[in-house]
Amino acid sequence: MKIVKKISEIKEIVSNFKKNKKEINLIPTMGNIHTGHLSLLSKANKFDGINIVSIFVNPTQFNDEDDFNNYPNTFEADMEILSKANCSIIFAPSRNQVYPDGIKSEKTVFKYRDILCDLYRLGHFDGVTTIVKILFNLIEPSKVFFGEKDFQQLKIIEQLIFQNNLKIHLIKCPSIRDADGMSFSSRYSTFSKDEKSKFKKCAQIINANLLKLKRDFNHKILDNIEKELRSYGISKIDYFEVRNEETLSLSVNNESSRLFIAFYINKVRVIDNFLLY
Ligand code: PAF
Repeated sequence: MKIVKKISEIKEIVSNFKKNKKEINLIPTMGNIHTGHLSLLSKANKFDGINIVSIFVNPTQFNDEDDFNNYPNTFEADMEILSKANCSIIFAPSRNQVYPDGIKSEKTVFKYRDILCDLYRLGHFDGVTTIVKILFNLIEPSKVFFGEKDFQQLKIIEQLIFQNNLKIHLIKCPSIRDADGMSFSSRYSTFSKDEKSKFKKCAQIINANLLKLKRDFNHKILDNIEKELRSYGISKIDYFEVRNEETLSLSVNNESSRLFIAFYINKVRVIDNFLLY
């Protein structure tokens, strides 16, 4: 496994792969590699091609400086894990390499906006599409692997590929869940013991109500989840909404719908989504 930190080096490697007609599978990450990321890599292993995992904690997608500063940096451990998971190259550029003209992002995707996380993390998706477009331009992947955990992100990336007419196949990978039914996330690695047990309790509340929602769609159930979480001491809830997974518009029944959730356990933002059909 090769570690590449320079843009010039990755460009040379990519150009050699292209000359030799080798396809590239890209798995973009911000590091702190966990089971969810490994599932993207094992999906990539099902296809021909060289697996490149990018690790870059992208400053332009953080709307909160504390969140950026506290983002877990576990590069040594990540290398160890990825070396055993058929990753050929880790691309881990510095901030200056990625943003030589200063840290800035641009709003280029307007679809699937002004709802869900976009209302609460201003500029976040502009940062995401900016970095993902930079990675696409540098690495020229034929396939790119994204998890369904960040479902709105997935839809926005799909739109980015579509509107730029890119010849990139977006492979959507189902969430990998822990024993309590919640998707894995790098952010949860910073939970204290107390926060972990809060998270477990929240998972129980959500999952019990999820069963009810699946049986009989009813807005009262959504209100109940919020009430139960609040009574358990969760005070910052961004949203609990049921939306259509194609259009992301609000649903009136379970058909092609998912429950989208976002709330905080102290400073850690929990986001997830659950199939309702
Ligand atoms: O999902 C993530 O980890 C990030 O948003 C991504 C896609 C790697 C862009 O920084």
